[in-house]
Amino acid sequence: MTRDRFQSLDPSTPSDRLEHAQRTGRPSWPLGATGLVYGGDYNPEQWTRETWVEDVHLMQEAGVTMVSIGMFSWASIEPRRGEFHWEWLDEVFALLHEAGIRVDLGTPTAAPPAWFFREHPEARVVDRDGRALGPGSRGMACPSSPAYRLAATGITRALAERYGDHPALALWHVHNEYGAPVGESFSRFAQDAFRDWALRRHGSLDAVNAAWGTAFWGQAFGVPEEIHAPLPTPSMQNPSLELDWRRFSSEQILECFRAERDVLHELTPHVPVTTNFMAHTCPNIDLWKWADEVDVVSNDHYLIAADARNFVELALDADLTRSLARGRPWMLMEHSTSGVNWQGRNVAKRPGEMARNSLSHVGRGADAVMFFQWRASLKGAEKFHSAMLPHAGTSSRIWREVAELGAQLEELADLQGTRVHADVAILWDWESHWAQDLPWRPADDLSHRAQIQTWYERLWRDHIAVDFAHPEDDLSAYRLVLAPASYLLSDAAARNLEAYVHDGGNLVVGPFSGVVDGEDGVRPGGLNAALAPVLGLEVHEFCPLRDGDEARLVLDGKPLRSRLWCEDLQLRGADAIGSYTDGPVAEGVAATRHAYGDGAAWYLASDLDVEDLAAMFSGPYLAAGLTARDLPEDVELLERRAEDGTRHLIALNHTAQPVTVSVDGAAPLEVPAGGVATARVPASVTAG
Ligand code: GLA
Repeated sequence: MTRDRFQSLDPSTPSDRLEHAQRTGRPSWPLGATGLVYGGDYNPEQWTRETWVEDVHLMQEAGVTMVSIGMFSWASIEPRRGEFHWEWLDEVFALLHEAGIRVDLGTPTAAPPAWFFREHPEARVVDRDGRALGPGSRGMACPSSPAYRLAATGITRALAERYGDHPALALWHVHNEYGAPVGESFSRFAQDAFRDWALRRHGSLDAVNAAWGTAFWGQAFGVPEEIHAPLPTPSMQNPSLELDWRRFSSEQILECFRAERDVLHELTPHVPVTTNFMAHTCPNIDLWKWADEVDVVSNDHYLIAADARNFVELALDADLTRSLARGRPWMLMEHSTSGVNWQGRNVAKRPGEMARNSLSHVGRGADAVMFFQWRASLKGAEKFHSAMLPHAGTSSRIWREVAELGAQLEELADLQGTRVHADVAILWDWESHWAQDLPWRPADDLSHRAQIQTWYERLWRDHIAVDFAHPEDDLSAYRLVLAPASYLLSDAAARNLEAYVHDGGNLVVGPFSGVVDGEDGVRPGGLNAALAPVLGLEVHEFCPLRDGDEARLVLDGKPLRSRLWCEDLQLRGADAIGSYTDGPVAEGVAATRHAYGDGAAWYLASDLDVEDLAAMFSGPYLAAGLTARDLPEDVELLERRAEDGTRHLIALNHTAQPVTVSVDGAAPLEVPAGGVATARVPASVTAG
């Protein structure tokens, strides 16, 4: 096969290919992958050649079309520095290729070999307490270490030279889950790099001092050498410095990705490159900055076993991943067939749950369903983690479900390239998250993440599709924008939201928003100065409740309860739509609406639970022309639309009872207990 042949097999839609090729000159989907991709991580270095042969045979039986290999293979490829052992990997490639299974080849830089750490002990990750973390596990070296960066690009180059033209190679998988387990390092390299980074970001030492407000508590730096990382301190660390440290750490790790990716782009420009994100589950990485750097967005998602309704968190993660991919097809790179092994109680999945999880990702735009890992390990840290081929072998329920899912995905091949449409965007910003969750806030437990999850779940229960957006994104395509937790807003973001509403948009803002600028500084003019004009109100005081207390409020004629947070508002043009009847601001305004330009902005100065939020959202829904859909509780109906107008429907039943879901233009869908049903509604029906 030639390179052109690979490219002609790129199955993403013509507009995807065009847009990506114009922007990057590279393919936007694994080469030669048709339909929905199915497979998982394969770690063949654990097994004998006989097992590889059996594995490949069983992969075919299960309908596997692609596997990810090599992410942890550095020590097997180069057991001693400069001594390369390719033969085993050549053979794995050959076996997979003969079987028609595509290869997603990992660069093994999340697990440098023992010789590397022996030669470069200074490259180890250093934690905040100054401890250098040893080898014997996995996780990258210090991202700022020059020796690590050199070695990482070196092994990447060697792999690209060896396999860049291999006909089975479909995709590069750089590293593994950047940001975890290593999200920061306090090595001397990192501390030096941080000093330079801060001076570059702010322009001068005076500007660093001004941005971080070092005049307070006598922290001013007299010479650049005094700029320091946020090491342990007797009291609260400077919060602006902490925030910049988070930005710096995310960027240092991104530099590691870019260095490897650039080698791959140079040597194999015909092969797309990804790295597996953990959309909302890894807080260390600002993925808005990463998403445009990959050719294909891929994501790992694991259920929170302790949460009985964890399918809502799954949905949020998948919607966020699609949003990072800007609506283009994305890959579910890892999830689990059953329990994981790294949570407190690793709950096994119930019959049908794995397929339901998989199809939930697909319904939210994933065109690949992959797992960790293909065959359960006998040894090592993850031997109790579920796998596609479990310890119990091919007579197990899990294996049967794995093969059934493979067949089901094959039947759904024409979903590939179809799109999810959302009229609502929720603002999501890692910088705001980092800043809001720093210590010494009015209430530690007004959690950024929890605020967003609660608002998301309201839309989930109303069956309204949602994208996530950065506050500086063009929002004009959305009928409704929600800002549940926008504590930090840059000046550009504040102007963007103002313009969105002015031009006819509907914006709903949650409590403790618009409080600080990009440096975690309160703006002159009040506690919500950035949003005061568009909201038509000023926040004069934050009034959190004592633990266990509640404040009652009435909104839209309905009695509601706040359990954590109230604010003292002064209206400057907004109309009150809800008021407190007791609590610290009894008789005060709890919720408002402000007509602004051609649009409207709502504000909620309270923490409402999912049920109570319905009263807050009814006005914005009406203004935006949105209607909550009436479906049985914990049943979802997802839709993807083809370019020709065909609607692909996926109904998911998270309950223990069978349900019937009525569908416009098609026969009702009978969805078994805990199961999934799918339907296609042709364009002619949709148009009619
Ligand atoms: C992560 C890693 C995998 C594996 C799984 C286990 O997603 O990328 O290598 O450790 O967790 O859940």
